[in-house]
Amino acid sequence: MKKLAVFASGNGTNYEAIEQAIQNGVIEDACVALLVVDKKEAYVIERAKKYGTKVFVFNPKDYESKAAYETEIVTMLEELSVDLICLAGYMRIIGETLLNAFKKRIINIHPALLPSFKGAHGILDAFNYGVKVYGVTIHYVSSELDGGEIIRQKAFEYYGNNPNEVEEKIHEIEHVLYPKTINWLLGGFSNESFN
Ligand code: GAR
Repeated sequence: MKKLAVFASGNGTNYEAIEQAIQNGVIEDACVALLVVDKKEAYVIERAKKYGTKVFVFNPKDYESKAAYETEIVTMLEELSVDLICLAGYMRIIGETLLNAFKKRIINIHPALLPSFKGAHGILDAFNYGVKVYGVTIHYVSSELDGGEIIRQKAFEYYGNNPNEVEEKIHEIEHVLYPKTINWLLGGFSNESFN
């Protein structure tokens, strides 16, 4: 069985989509071995209770450096034999410690068509710019914010004037595209599953 770690900072709808996809077989023969959360008030922690998933909550301010908390996380991930780290709304740059320990095994989902609209407000930035084609990107994580080789993208046109509608559509796409991509990376490798 393949072991995933999910890193999140907030609501956790993408985390939950991954757990659901494991339950309904979209992600085959896998489990979330650890949920890593950097904010103790994040709602994603509540969601994890439903699935009985092990959670590591930490406060970066309790550590003297990024390397210090990432070293602790790497130890945990290695003890659990984690295969793939999936960032799901984890609002923190990944440091060298994690990047070196999990080379090409850390992926991220971003709510815009990279390389446009990087950062924490991808949806609103794209809306305020006035784009007519929006989308979602899944990419390998590098030391650059929302950088790294692109794995999958999905786009849609929108000519309305309501950012909430855009956000809703983005999340709808994310919750399908992320699980499918994870399954593909874990060894499914069928392009048909993206249609
Ligand atoms: C998602 O839309 C994800 O694409 C975005 O955070 C949201 C988390 O939602 N990530 C980024 O903006 C990364 N730069 P969730 O907590 O409900 O999964």
